[in-house]
Amino acid sequence: MDALVIEGGRALRGSVRIGAAKNAVLPLMAAALLADGESHLRSVPNLADVRTLSRLLEHLDLRVRPDNGGLLLAADAVGGREAPYELVKTMRASVLVLGPLVARFGSARVSLPGGCAIGARPINLHLKGLEAMGAEVVLEHGYVDVRAPRLRGTRIVLDIPTVTGTENLMMAASLADGTTVIENAAREPEVQDLAACLVAMGARIRGAGSAVLEIDGVESLAPYDYTPIPDRIEAGTLMAAAALCDGDVTLHGARLDHLDAFVVKLREAGAEVVDLGEQRVRVTSGERRTGVDVRTSPHPGFPTDMQAQFMALMAKGTGNSVITEKVFENRFMHVSELNRMGADITVEGSSAVVRGVPQLSGARVMATDLRASAALVLAGLAAEGTTVISRVYHLDRGYEALEVKLAALGARVERIRE
Ligand code: EPU
Repeated sequence: MDALVIEGGRALRGSVRIGAAKNAVLPLMAAALLADGESHLRSVPNLADVRTLSRLLEHLDLRVRPDNGGLLLAADAVGGREAPYELVKTMRASVLVLGPLVARFGSARVSLPGGCAIGARPINLHLKGLEAMGAEVVLEHGYVDVRAPRLRGTRIVLDIPTVTGTENLMMAASLADGTTVIENAAREPEVQDLAACLVAMGARIRGAGSAVLEIDGVESLAPYDYTPIPDRIEAGTLMAAAALCDGDVTLHGARLDHLDAFVVKLREAGAEVVDLGEQRVRVTSGERRTGVDVRTSPHPGFPTDMQAQFMALMAKGTGNSVITEKVFENRFMHVSELNRMGADITVEGSSAVVRGVPQLSGARVMATDLRASAALVLAGLAAEGTTVISRVYHLDRGYEALEVKLAALGARVERIRE
């Protein structure tokens, strides 16, 4: 297994390019299942999650080929209908094949994901939505079997604005009979990006980016040629790194309009964030006078995927902050590791009280999930001495060569094989 070794205390200076958004790329790859022919996804980051979904799509007989930094996905001979346990266990987003398979081929068999490091994460809302559209759903031997010769448009009110649930139902509704209305839909930029791609494929979707989606089903969709949005979480992570590490960093290919709630908090924490136009953003660390409270919520609120990194930022410096996690029930696995690095954080239910300390100290720590690993990298960059982060395969699920990008900004970080 790989580990990262970080010598902390170096200032971050220079420019860095942001890759395409993992959480946009994954549903876009699944959307290739909806059309007969070859889709072209331009600009696909080299991530473990992308490789896992490629394996799953190949398992369904979709042909996946690399093409000049992107992927060609040919879905003209799709025969498979099953997302097996081994792949869903590795990556929950595998469930994104469910909607497209049922809508286009009338059936799917998907392993139930079970819990994961950040919470229980059921898929009941995906299934309830498909049932409302006329599908028959049977749970058996840890798998869910979903059948529907043809889905019917209907009105679906989601209990929670689930991101992949909205994406699954939006893809399914695009090939259903009649009109589907999804209320309390997720509004994340990645959901909007999928909607834009589906529209380019011939889907009829109104309201993307709002809480009510209206989708008129069509007979068939055409393959796409599409460039995904930049990764707002990679951008946010590097912005937090700059703020924490005496930084002056310019991000290229970053969309500030996707990061509004985070940027408000980063500025409150003293950082200067300047929109240079043309998707360039300059972040300089200013003087931190107080702690900043955050509360995660669905978009456009503060993203849960930035909570751990923001906690690392709050861990060092003046003032106390209360960080409340409202999207997932168990997303504080980074707390005990940050405390091993000298942070002073206590968890009370869904809130963490972070008392800023003047200095963090390098230590051996263990990554537990994707964003928790990113928080440990940030803490390591800011700490005195050496930090060794093991199990960085969690980080590799969602960040492409993060250590290379950080090293180019002046960080002392290298990957070793343990
Ligand atoms: N939920 C249910 N029932 C469902 C679906 C969701 O109770 O049927 C609950 C979940 O347990 C959770 C809440 O609803 O408490 C929100 O979950 P959501 O379904 O929105 O999350 P997701 O679609 O599984 C995506 C991202 C996550 C991101 C969340 C929230 C992808 C592939 N994954 O997950 O990304 O944290 O939305 O924004 O888009 C990450 O990149 O590190 C990551 C975990």
